[in-house]
Parts: sequence; structure tokens; C-alpha cells
Amino acid sequence: MALVFIDDLTEGMMLAEDLLTPSGRFVLAAGATIKADQLKILKSWGVVEANIEVSSLGNEFAQQQEASAEFHDQAENLLSVRFVQNDLEQEPIATLYRHVSHLWTLKLQEGWVPDSITEAAPISEPQKIHAPLSAAKLLNGDVDLGCLPTVYSHIVDALNHPNTSSYQLGEVISKDASLTVRLLRLVNSPFYGFSGKVETVARAVSLLGLNELSTLALGISVIQKFENIPSDQFDMESFWRHSIRCGLFARTLAGYMGEKDTEKYFTGGLLHDIGRLVMLDRMPQQYCLAISRARQEHLPMYRAEQDVLKTDHCILGKMLAEKWRLAPSLIRMIGCHHSPRLAHYSTEACLIHIADIFAHGCSDEVLLVNAVPELQIQAWNEIGLATDYISAAIKQVDNDFKEIIKIFFDR
Ligand SMILES: [Fe+2]
Ligand SMILES: [Fe+2]
Repeated sequence: MALVFIDDLTEGMMLAEDLLTPSGRFVLAAGATIKADQLKILKSWGVVEANIEVSSLGNEFAQQQEASAEFHDQAENLLSVRFVQNDLEQEPIATLYRHVSHLWTLKLQEGWVPDSITEAAPISEPQKIHAPLSAAKLLNGDVDLGCLPTVYSHIVDALNHPNTSSYQLGEVISKDASLTVRLLRLVNSPFYGFSGKVETVARAVSLLGLNELSTLALGISVIQKFENIPSDQFDMESFWRHSIRCGLFARTLAGYMGEKDTEKYFTGGLLHDIGRLVMLDRMPQQYCLAISRARQEHLPMYRAEQDVLKTDHCILGKMLAEKWRLAPSLIRMIGCHHSPRLAHYSTEACLIHIADIFAHGCSDEVLLVNAVPELQIQAWNEIGLATDYISAAIKQVDNDFKEIIKIFFDR
């Protein structure tokens, strides 16, 4: 029996097991031979792979495998470093790794040249840090950093007013022109799939709901706030690409779980690593040393931060989120995404923990530190999703990412 990806399925291959869609819907029975006209239908039903009898694989498949073997090895070499903190045999890492490796093999075959890992430029050894940094001190010193984006405080004020209408909230948001432009582009993108053009914030509020839209507005306005921290060592756009990807995975997986307010997971993903920006802003030299350590030792950032700075971005992010009086669910996502145990394995913390792992695993850039943080298996068990959803999520996020990135970075 061999697991064959949908693009490699050909007419005449025989199923070794029943074929199901990711949501468990029966498609074809074991023993059935795949016909040419069924291939398109299988794709449209979201089937991503099938277990095939080895004897029916055929010459074409063998030739394909031979042609891609060199690229497959190259992909595995690149990825084995990225996944070094994880057990490749354990789910969901095993399935995630298999799919990313397949996608990278295809891309390498098509001529993709991955960014090479550039070592951080030598930096003068900053003052050694022996005691944990006071997170409160880090946040208090800078009024601007500690302040919630102004527009968001106005949104919160409006929401706290019992009779706020879509029109009134629209008026508040519309005062920030660049936020309005991004919000409207987002709501008009295929990501939301509304028919007809949404031309005003008030209309967007009535379509998405007051809470959902204000949560989104929060995410976007925070990105605007932190967009321009200057650094030679830190690629801000890579940082936001990772955050967007994490938000998309969290939103997609929450949807598969049947969660209602999926928008809060998108925003949670957008903001989950915000503590890193606090460190970059307040102690750039030391933070670059932590980045360097993470790159050299293939560590996830939070572990390099703990080594070098005696604190980490979860602690600082949580404090900032508390200072901003964000919703408790967002605080859990930001503060506990690397240790969901601390949030008693709440759905929020578990989802961002998993989404972060998927986002690191699927990123095709290596300039950012991309060591996949070690999986806390209980978080995956708490989510309770079948591994069949993983490939569907990767595909969905890949599509959405292309849309969203245009909106956030005006591409
Ligand atoms: Fe993180
Ligand atoms: Fe992250």
C-alpha cells in the first residue's frame, strides 16, 4: 500500500482502502479502480491523497518518483533542520511534515530557490543579562508602546455604549483612513466571500457583526502601530507574514472544530507574538543576540529569548495585552501559545499553539527564525481534529494567504 497525493493519482490505480473526504464523507470503496473522469471530482471534493495498491501504481508513477527523488532529498534536508525540535513520527507533526515536504519537492522541481539562511551580522556583545528583565519596566518606560492604538480605544468606548449602531461604529473606524482602507479591502476579498461590493464600514459591521469587526480592526491597527520598528537584523514583513499565517491556520482549524467566533482566532494569531516586538523595540541589541542564538542552534525564538534575555515574548505579550485590556481569550492566546498548560489547555491557547507550529512548518522563507516549536501533544488532543484535516487546512491557508498578504502589504 502506498500513500499517493492527489496530483500524482492516475487512471487505473486501485484503492487499497476506502476513500473519504477530510470531513469523513465516503467517496469510493477499497478495491475500486480510479477512472479518468473521477480525478477532477475527487479534487473538487477536497480529497488530497489516497492509499493505493502498490501493484497498480504503474510506470508513469515510478518515472515521476525517480524524476523528483533528487528534489525530494533536497526538501528533506532543508526541512529536517526546521523540524529538529519535534518527533517526525508523532501526529500531527508526521502529516504536517509529509505535506510540506511534498509541496517543497514540487516547488524545487519547478525551479524554486529557497532563501539561504543568512547568519545574523556580527553584533557587538551587549551587556550580559543575569537576572530576569522586569517586564513591567520594559512596558512602562514608553508611553506610546503601552498605549492601545487610539482608534481601538474609541472602538471599545463605542462598543461599551449599549445602543451603538453599525453606523456609529462605522463613523468611529472611518476616522482612521488607512485602517478603513485595509478593513474594506479585507472584507471585499474572496476570504470573506460576500457577494456585492462592501463600500462602507457601517455595511461591513452589519455583515460581520460588531464584535467580529472590532476584533479585526484591533488586529489591523496593532500591525499599523508596530509596522516601522527599524532593525537590520529583524525582517518586520517576515514577522507579519508569520503572524498572518498563524491567524489563518487558527481561524481555519477553529472552523473545522465548529467554533462560532472564528474571527477572534484570526486576530489571536495576528497578535500572538507581539511580545517579540516589545523586546525588539526596547532592547534591540540583546534581542538580535537572541535571534542569532536561535538561528545558530535551531531553537524556537521563545527558548533563545529565555537563554539570552531571561524572559520571553509570551510573558511580555501577555503583559502588554493586559495593559491594553484585551479580551481574556486574546490574553490566553498571546500568553500561553507556547505553554497551553498554563491556560489549562483552553481551546484558545491550544489552537494558537497548533496554528503557530503549522505556520512555522509551512512558511517558505528561512530569513525568519523558523524552527518549529516543540509540539505539546495534549494541545492537539484537546482540539480533537482528525489528521485528515491537516492537508485541507494547508491548502486553504495557502489560498487565503495570497489574498490577505495583498491587503496587509499593498501588493
Ligand atoms: Fe511565539
Ligand atoms: Fe509564532
